[in-house]
Amino acid sequence: MDTVITAQIHRNDDRFGACYDLLYGEFGTAELDTADRLRASLNSADPVAPQGFLLARYAVHDGQPRWDDPVGVIAGDYLPLPGGGCIGALGHLVASDRRRGAGHGAALVGAWERAVRQHARRHRQLMRLLVLESRPTASTFWAQQGYRWVAGSEYRQPVIVSRSAQNHSDSQLLPELLMVKTPGTLADDVDTALIVEAVFTMYRHWYEPPCAGTRPDIWARITAELWGRTFPAFLSSLPPAPQCPITHPPSQHNAATAA
Ligand SMILES: CC(C)(COP(=O)(O)OP(=O)(O)OC[C@H]1O[C@@H](n2cnc3c(N)ncnc32)[C@H](O)[C@@H]1OP(=O)(O)O)[C@@H](O)C(=O)NCCC(=O)NCCS
Repeated sequence: MDTVITAQIHRNDDRFGACYDLLYGEFGTAELDTADRLRASLNSADPVAPQGFLLARYAVHDGQPRWDDPVGVIAGDYLPLPGGGCIGALGHLVASDRRRGAGHGAALVGAWERAVRQHARRHRQLMRLLVLESRPTASTFWAQQGYRWVAGSEYRQPVIVSRSAQNHSDSQLLPELLMVKTPGTLADDVDTALIVEAVFTMYRHWYEPPCAGTRPDIWARITAELWGRTFPAFLSSLPPAPQCPITHPPSQHNAATAA
């Protein structure tokens, strides 16, 4: 059996291209930022700003890692919260379709979580929550990694490509499940205010910034929809209580098909 190693990919790393290609093949323009934007997010010089973390796994043949053919890739961000502390927001995970079911996805999640938490510790920031948007087909995988569904929430992921469209009309939204993991011991509920702050921060960091070349009128419409419709719709799906229960995802989302 091959040995496998996990490596963190930095901004100026030659290995970035092969990682981006694997992500792009799975997520495309609808869900993935441009290569330039993803690269720019990595290892920013500002220690208190958002930081992107990109990690990949590589098979090692004859002592040589296959840098051109990653087995799996994970990307996500350390995001400071406006009210203090930070979250880890997991953006994308893919295992090469030839290598699924061999533990690479789970190993990458563990490595990414360790990297983001270590970054928070180094900057004396309290890691308050790990958050992700799950495709319905992947929610069982995430539940196995300790993530729980924000029960009852209705979450929509804005489509990234619409930010750059020149004739953008209505924004497209992907139905996903908002899943969270509490640092330390697993909890049964989370402060509703923390969920709100986390999603506000993810939307602001991931979906609000215009792409290069986005016409100002289109960007204004996208922003108006994001904050005037999409975010309020999510808020109104949360329970009117100080705590949100977090549970295993509902059974209709548990189809154990590799996405
Ligand atoms: C989701 C994905 C990354 C999982 O990677 P993987 O390397 O196949 O996963 P692992 O082998 O580490 O699986 C860990 C456990 O989760 C289970 N699992 C993996 N994918 C699953 C799925 N889609 N549904 C249910 N269970 C799943 C495995 O059976 C395994 O269970 P076990 O520990 O009891 O044996 C991979 O299927 C993939 O790339 N999917 C397409 C992209 C995608 O959907 N990404 C997530 C977007 S939110």
